[in-house]
Amino acid sequence: MRLGPRMAIGRLAPAGLRWRLAGWVALVTLICTGITFVVVYRGTGTQLRHQIDRELSGDAGELAHNLSLADAATAAKLSRAANRYIHDQPFSTSSTLLFAIVPGQGTSTNRPELFTRKVPERGESSADQTRENAAASRLLSAPMGYSTLSLPDVGELRLLTRAVRVAGDQTVTIGAGEPLAAVAHAQSGVAQAFILAGILALAGAIFAAYLVGVRVSRPLRRMAAVAARVDAGDLHPRIHDVGAHGDEVKVLADAFNHMLDRLTDAFAGQRAFVADASHELRTPLTVIRGQLEVLAAQSDPSSAEVRRVEHLAKAEIARISRLVDDLLLLAKAEQTQFLRVEWIDLAAYVGELWDGMSLLAVRRFELGPVPSGALRADPDRLAQALRNLVGNSIDHTIPEVGLVRMRVEQAPAERVRFIVEDDGPGIPLDERERVFHRFHRTDAARDRATSGTGLGLAIVRAIADAHGGTVKAGESPEGGARIELELPGFTPAFDDEPAAAEQAAAVPVTAQTVEGTR
Ligand SMILES: Nc1ncnc2c1ncn2[C@@H]1O[C@H](COP(=O)(O)OP(=O)(O)OP(=O)(O)O)[C@@H](O)[C@H]1O
Ligand SMILES: [Mg+2]
Repeated sequence: MRLGPRMAIGRLAPAGLRWRLAGWVALVTLICTGITFVVVYRGTGTQLRHQIDRELSGDAGELAHNLSLADAATAAKLSRAANRYIHDQPFSTSSTLLFAIVPGQGTSTNRPELFTRKVPERGESSADQTRENAAASRLLSAPMGYSTLSLPDVGELRLLTRAVRVAGDQTVTIGAGEPLAAVAHAQSGVAQAFILAGILALAGAIFAAYLVGVRVSRPLRRMAAVAARVDAGDLHPRIHDVGAHGDEVKVLADAFNHMLDRLTDAFAGQRAFVADASHELRTPLTVIRGQLEVLAAQSDPSSAEVRRVEHLAKAEIARISRLVDDLLLLAKAEQTQFLRVEWIDLAAYVGELWDGMSLLAVRRFELGPVPSGALRADPDRLAQALRNLVGNSIDHTIPEVGLVRMRVEQAPAERVRFIVEDDGPGIPLDERERVFHRFHRTDAARDRATSGTGLGLAIVRAIADAHGGTVKAGESPEGGARIELELPGFTPAFDDEPAAAEQAAAVPVTAQTVEGTR
């Protein structure tokens, strides 16, 4: 037995899941680490630059304050005061450059070589000299406020330049600068730390994701193996121990197991159905063959004997064709086009049907009141179902005195209920569900010579299901069988006219034959 292309199941094997999971986790880790790195790297730079700017402002402020306190009536005195203060602050790559330009007095600074245009030193190329001169003029012509310059030997330099008015109404240009090497240093430290931490985090994340992938894909691999066995025709394997209750994989495994249970049941049911159908067909065929052999064995059979065999063969052929019709009908019931629904005037429909059914046998036929209204149903299929129920009651009641009763009631939710009852032996409690299975007959029915094939109630249920209704067996007040067929789609009529069938209630009817109920 093949349940589907083996290729599809092969594709179920989750070989790449672990690596795909690890790959995605690695990608997400890389992106997160990258974004965090950019934020921290730039944040560190910005914070340190702000700190440097604050320090420069403090240094320039102190220099200006100092000059304003100095007793410097002349430019020369002012220049001397500036020199004194500035020379107390030596410059190195980690401390502050200070300068003050007093008009007419030159530049007082703790790093004079940055400002002086020199003659070339020994070993210094003219290109170096040109660069240094250019740097000196950039420093001298730096705009007021904060600026960043790139100077030879010093590197990036943050500079704050201010014009300050001091004693004697003189204007002095003062400046403070600080190399940005510390910022670059701190940022490269951040980068190194991030590279190290990033590599560790990435390795850890890939490893963890791989382990999770292995754990998650284990039950999937087990399911793929089970599916492969099912594909090979073995419906028995099930998936066990796939994780905690409520786990998605457990839910999937349960659904898978449930599907296999249903498939197993369906196949078993189908096998039993085919076996039962073959058996039911074989019995009348055996009878016909036996009778024909008996006839053939006689060299000159009498015409009475020929008629007897003919009569018997016809009866068996009728039985076979009824069985085949029933089987075809049950097969059709699975299709969507099974019903041809229309609006039925319930009271008129039931009255007419009952008149026909009550002619089938001699029993005490009783029809209760029928609610007036319209029912949306297939009239032929519904008639077939009701005929099967009444036929069963006829089969199980005593001729002439037996009671066969039908009641029709309105049920909640726009439904209508057809109840067929009798005073026969009834259906035992434990058989009340099984009688609706195909070919099922109770032991008592099996013993009877006139027993049917056991498809009648299965057909009733198929018709009920197709209408979206239900059917169930119970016990009548007289101790006989009671079958309730409930269908949706009933719209009651609001005129309180008594239904036509109501008058027909409890009228005993007689008839000659019990045949042809279906
Ligand atoms: N009114 C009833 N009283 C007692 N037993 C019943 C009644 N109706 C059905 N049954 C039991 O339910 C079984 C199934 O009924 P169903 O109509 O499906 O089959 P059947 O009547 O045996 O055969 P078929 O209807 O195919 O000719 C019957 O064999 C019988 O045992
Ligand atoms: Mg029947």
